[in-house]
Amino acid sequence: MSESTAAISRGLIEYLAARTAGDDAFLRELKAAAHAAGIPSIWIPPEEGSLLQVLLRVARATEVVEVGTLAGYSAIWMARALPAGGRVRTIELSPKHAAFARAWIARSDVSERVEVLEGRGGDVLRTMAASSVDAVFLDADKSGYADYVEQAARILRPSGLLLVDNAFAFGQVLDAEPEDREAPAIQAFNEQLARDTRFQSLIVPIGDGLWVGARRA
Ligand SMILES: C[S@@+](CC[C@H](N)C(=O)[O-])C[C@H]1O[C@@H](n2cnc3c(N)ncnc32)[C@H](O)[C@@H]1O
Repeated sequence: MSESTAAISRGLIEYLAARTAGDDAFLRELKAAAHAAGIPSIWIPPEEGSLLQVLLRVARATEVVEVGTLAGYSAIWMARALPAGGRVRTIELSPKHAAFARAWIARSDVSERVEVLEGRGGDVLRTMAASSVDAVFLDADKSGYADYVEQAARILRPSGLLLVDNAFAFGQVLDAEPEDREAPAIQAFNEQLARDTRFQSLIVPIGDGLWVGARRA
């Protein structure tokens, strides 16, 4: 179950989490190894992984791009929803995180479907072709979100999925003076995406709030 923002009551989060798939033994092992390696436990909760999988299946996604790999946890969740030949390209700035994720993805059941691209999110997104991607999942530096959405609007196919994590700013989105240094960037980003007519989007109250949007044609 999520340790992140209780956007809805803890009891309801526990209720819904108990009614969807949790981590399997491999993902539990990955998390323990990441913790032992000093990698922060800031991955999405399993129920958010399930939601990402449902959305990718409904969209019949084969080309997925993620910004923010960390240990490879969410990339593995997403790759498991793709058909054979599908792939997740996941972008990571930290060499330590990228190396850990590569090693664990190589041991996973979806090693053929996940590619870790090391670099800055904005730089790597700019190398990708227009209208070539079915879904983009943003889960990295929050001050980069506005730029990443510009690139997502370019690389997503019509009706492609835009997914953006931490819309509730670690539970501080309603705070006038949030303590978290990234919260103000999220507050500004939320106002911007809410008005962005290139996407039909809304915040789903799961995990720390997940923006789910569809690229208008
Ligand atoms: C919240 S974690 C990602 C969690 C992962 N999506 C999951 O749920 O398993 C954010 C990651 O973004 C990476 N990051 C930070 N700034 C970045 C940037 N400018 N470009 C790419 N990755 C970045 C961090 O090093 C960190 O590994």
